Amino acid sequence: MVSCTINAKRILGKRNKMIYGHFIEHFHRQIYGGIYDPGSPFADKDGFREDVIEALKQIRPPVLRWPGGCFASAYNWKKGVGPNRVPTLDKAWRVEEPNTFGTDEYIKLCRKLDCEPYICTNAGTGTAEEMSDWVEYCNMEQEGLHAKSRIANGNTEPYKVKYWSIGNENYGSWEIGAKTTVEWGRYVVEAAKMMKRVDPDIELSAAALTDIDWNINLLGSCGYLLDWISIHEYWDRDRSIHLTNELATYEQVMCYTLSVNRSIERIRGILTAMGLEKKIKISFDEWNLRAWYHPYILSVKFDTTKKEYLSLRDRNDDNSSYTMADAVFSACFLNACNRNCDIVGMANFAPIVNTRGAIFTHKGGIVKRTTYYVFDLYVNYLGDTVIDAWEGSKEYFIVTDKDGNEVEVDVLDILATFKPETGEIAIAVVNKHPKEERVLSLIVNSFGRVGKCHMYSLSGKENDSFNDVDHNDAVIIRLDLNNNISDEGNDISINLQPHSVNIIVIGE
Ligand code: AHR
Repeated sequence: MVSCTINAKRILGKRNKMIYGHFIEHFHRQIYGGIYDPGSPFADKDGFREDVIEALKQIRPPVLRWPGGCFASAYNWKKGVGPNRVPTLDKAWRVEEPNTFGTDEYIKLCRKLDCEPYICTNAGTGTAEEMSDWVEYCNMEQEGLHAKSRIANGNTEPYKVKYWSIGNENYGSWEIGAKTTVEWGRYVVEAAKMMKRVDPDIELSAAALTDIDWNINLLGSCGYLLDWISIHEYWDRDRSIHLTNELATYEQVMCYTLSVNRSIERIRGILTAMGLEKKIKISFDEWNLRAWYHPYILSVKFDTTKKEYLSLRDRNDDNSSYTMADAVFSACFLNACNRNCDIVGMANFAPIVNTRGAIFTHKGGIVKRTTYYVFDLYVNYLGDTVIDAWEGSKEYFIVTDKDGNEVEVDVLDILATFKPETGEIAIAVVNKHPKEERVLSLIVNSFGRVGKCHMYSLSGKENDSFNDVDHNDAVIIRLDLNNNISDEGNDISINLQPHSVNIIVIGE
């Protein structure tokens, strides 16, 4: 039996709903053949998959980042607007970009989803002028060539895009237009100046990592113009020599849950040391347990054709890859974002459709992978106010990580929230254990008697359970726990399935 005391009177903060955000890139079947598929029988009048739109509406995306990712670093946005879309070569992913999905289509998608747009600009081959022209196209009423172009393209009203990122991973050698630490600080400040002069109300982010030198240069040069710092994190990377899309097992993934706080603490330290922790928030604007699989970017693997080389990317679409490990990890990451709501303001699951995403599309419909249901639980059943939860006695289990080391992992990961709109307490409890149930004793020191209690649980049959076209082994079930409330009315005994993500809702 593990006990946890909940104190609703001890408020840790209010989470920004944008920590449940998403990302979509011009890569493989995320856009074309994914969410945007005019030839699909599921397509609406604008070419969007209605089954995907409906599934997304259920998890209410607050913000959607686009168009990349690496794709952004050579993207010419002007080729993606207007009546004559000419195909161009996508030099990031070495495929042809039809340019039939551009800014106007993206904004139309955000309107359908009722979510904020968040545009990542081209800091690879792009210039400060091209970035500020994009802000003009989107946000100026009618002043300027590009605002007039938007109107001529049939969009009279400005789009009022509030969130903009300068660059994507320009610190990495893999990125087109990679820059040195010093170059980056100079580049960002000039881009930020021009973008803010077009629309001073936009909020700006810039590509960063948890490196002190990089951030001191960036924030020293441009901290006064930035509102966000962009951090990307993928934990399970294919390090096999032959790039065989080797994925971590459930037990190996549980080791990664111990490092979900790592980047937050490092960036918090840097921002605090520079006196910017109240001004600049962390945006994990790309995160996923699994790094995407796209081998041989800079070369076509010997003895294969370009077609064969590109077809390797289809391995991202193997639904059996996304198990309860992905759900349990993702819940632990979102718990960390909630607990650090004072400094983490946005997180974008990368991506939301296909590749390693929460939704998989196929000719006959969609598959909601395990991670989809984590967003369904967190968006629809947790509160916006984070409150104190104190575990009386933590329990651990031993697993072996990808390097063969024995690691001690805590069994439960608990986040408590309050729902002002209903007066309920909603608690996310993750049981990471690969095989064992746990009985949790929830002691609720928050209001009079606990009058009612129910739980939404996602567990799957096994820890490697997954959903696919022909079966759904991991879906949410609702359990009534009213009979689990003690006679005194402040203690609830709850049985937690192994490898499970649970939301317990408590009311008076
Ligand atoms: O693997 C996909 C890439 O991951 C994104 O395009 C980039 O931003 C990140 O490195």
